[in-house]
Amino acid sequence: MRKLRLAVLISGGGTNLQAILDRALVGELPAEVVVVVSDRADAFGLNRARNVDIPTRVVDYRGYLDGRTGKSEANALWIDWEALDNAQQILKAPDPGRRRDRLRRLVLAERELIGILDEYEPDYVCLAGFMRLLTPFFVRHYNRDGGWRILNIHPALLPSFPGERGYEDTFAYGCRWGGVTVHFVDEGEDSGPIIAQAIYPLWPDDNLASVRERGLQLEYEVYSQCIRWLAAEQIAVEERSGKRPIITITDPGYEGVVKRWVEQAFSEVRKASSSVR
Ligand code: GRF
Repeated sequence: MRKLRLAVLISGGGTNLQAILDRALVGELPAEVVVVVSDRADAFGLNRARNVDIPTRVVDYRGYLDGRTGKSEANALWIDWEALDNAQQILKAPDPGRRRDRLRRLVLAERELIGILDEYEPDYVCLAGFMRLLTPFFVRHYNRDGGWRILNIHPALLPSFPGERGYEDTFAYGCRWGGVTVHFVDEGEDSGPIIAQAIYPLWPDDNLASVRERGLQLEYEVYSQCIRWLAAEQIAVEERSGKRPIITITDPGYEGVVKRWVEQAFSEVRKASSSVR
């Protein structure tokens, strides 16, 4: 099996990144992380990459968004801002001027990001706790020619609880089951085609920390498995006009994998809740 070249985007602690690195190191994952990029210079996850000599880069999103960076560049870009604004689904501000200004700033940051990523010729871009919205400028760059080349791990059972607070929302709502989702990224927020999901129970003596810890253990498993399926070319995407694509996992061992996730969610239960509280 050919090793996949992965670019990983992070904003924070990077435990998902670590899980990928660990599995790749022991040969459990036919993949190599070729670059790790963060929108924050202080993201702890950058150290995890540096520790194993993987190149790291930072794109100063904050600088772009508050106008310190990229001021003069926007006019040099040949972009139909109106068309891009009409296509985008992530910025909701009702005032078109403000919305397009924000869009322009995000696109400038994404232009730098794409420049970095493409130096490393990744097969896939893996979002692992990257807390920035992606515009169609970025998404179309990687999802071209019918390919889906951006993956995300989301800490809830989509389409429930999109956004940044998957565990908080699951816990606060009083869900009996929580879940994690790995999906391809489309132009909406957490709305792309679902590759895999796994669930875990919530117990009366749980707290947010124990829920998060249980969910994270599943995230690591599910994300790695999806990367394995990609490397083995066992993820088939059937496009349908006007409808969501159908994703089929062609791994003959698929049911066994799902069974393992369910069993793991149960066996982790007491361990996680007793260790965190
Ligand atoms: C994870 O819960 C992931 O699902 C979400 O952000 C968190 C990142 O955690 N998108 P880490 O940085 O991988 O530890």
